[in-house]
Amino acid sequence: MGQAWGFGRYGGPEVQEFFDRPDPAPGSGEVLVRVGVAGVNPLDHLLRAGLVPGLDGGRPFPRVLGMEAAGTVLAVGADVDGLEVGDAVFGFALTGGGTYAETTVLSAANTARIPAGLPVTVAATLPVAGTTAVDALDQLGLPADATILVNGVGGGVGLAVAGLATARGLHVLGTGSSAKREQAEAIGVRFVDYTAGDVVAMARDLVPDGVDGIVDLVGGPSLRTVASLAREPRNVIAVGDQSVPEVGGRFVERRLDRENLARSAQLALDGVLVPVVGAVHPLSDAPAALAAVENGHAAGKVVIKVT
Ligand SMILES: NC(=O)c1ccc[n+]([C@@H]2O[C@H](COP(=O)([O-])OP(=O)(O)OC[C@H]3O[C@@H](n4cnc5c(N)ncnc54)[C@H](OP(=O)(O)O)[C@@H]3O)[C@@H](O)[C@H]2O)c1
Repeated sequence: MGQAWGFGRYGGPEVQEFFDRPDPAPGSGEVLVRVGVAGVNPLDHLLRAGLVPGLDGGRPFPRVLGMEAAGTVLAVGADVDGLEVGDAVFGFALTGGGTYAETTVLSAANTARIPAGLPVTVAATLPVAGTTAVDALDQLGLPADATILVNGVGGGVGLAVAGLATARGLHVLGTGSSAKREQAEAIGVRFVDYTAGDVVAMARDLVPDGVDGIVDLVGGPSLRTVASLAREPRNVIAVGDQSVPEVGGRFVERRLDRENLARSAQLALDGVLVPVVGAVHPLSDAPAALAAVENGHAAGKVVIKVT
């Protein structure tokens, strides 16, 4: 039995609640994990609101929030290769375990060992923000010296993309509100404050010929505005807005497998992929953690430290 935080029905923050739940039994291809740190993501509140029913597996209520975690394997289900009790691991809860909890089940195929020397808190940021950064930049496939714009640079994915791109020798412009400037500039981003005027005009002051690629984390009208800065429309990669083909761009192709997780962990260990953890909340403070992401202006990656 352990404490968990989730929701009793679809709705806004008012449907969220703490409750006790028995440790979930790991099914075939799953591992039971004592959660050390859980990552908080925009998809979490969208699932709570019932906006992505295709992803919640139709599980009974109450449901536990959260889809990524790092922790320690407590038990191994059938048909699991390469993971053992006692392993420090990080990965995805794709089958409904929910990770804002003392224990959860992770999908073994989407879980990897944490390499020695990598902090658990960093590992917890890799399934979503870390591998998304790797995937988006791999998909763009631009050479060193190319210039990209990261639209929404101040959040969990944006700072990870910007750091990895800089380490690969790309020149990076990033958009965000003024509170994000210092953090972004610290990792080499030329910052455009979208609250200070015409974003495209301000960016053109820095890159008169536009950019070689865009990684968009904002979507909607913002994506449509900045897309004009890309010299090649197909080099607009959107991470959250699936309507991106309307501006000639592509939606990010995600790789959630163990191999890509292990690769992102190695990049993090090498100091090449540097997820920026903006806030660490205890489980008892999970409502504030999710609210910080739900308000749309999170700074860096928000995580919940469970044990
Ligand atoms: N497809 C996938 O597998 C996948 C994986 C990860 C994330 N995503 C999606 O990607 C998106 C970003 O995720 P995230 O975890 O980085 O979110 P996040 O941590 O909440 O960050 C979003 C950032 O965007 C900034 N922002 C908001 N409006 C903006 C605007 N008009 N211009 C520039 N910046 C703006 C916000 O702060 P300021 O406004 O204060 O600058 C905030 O820092 C979400 O839609 C998420 O669901 C998808």
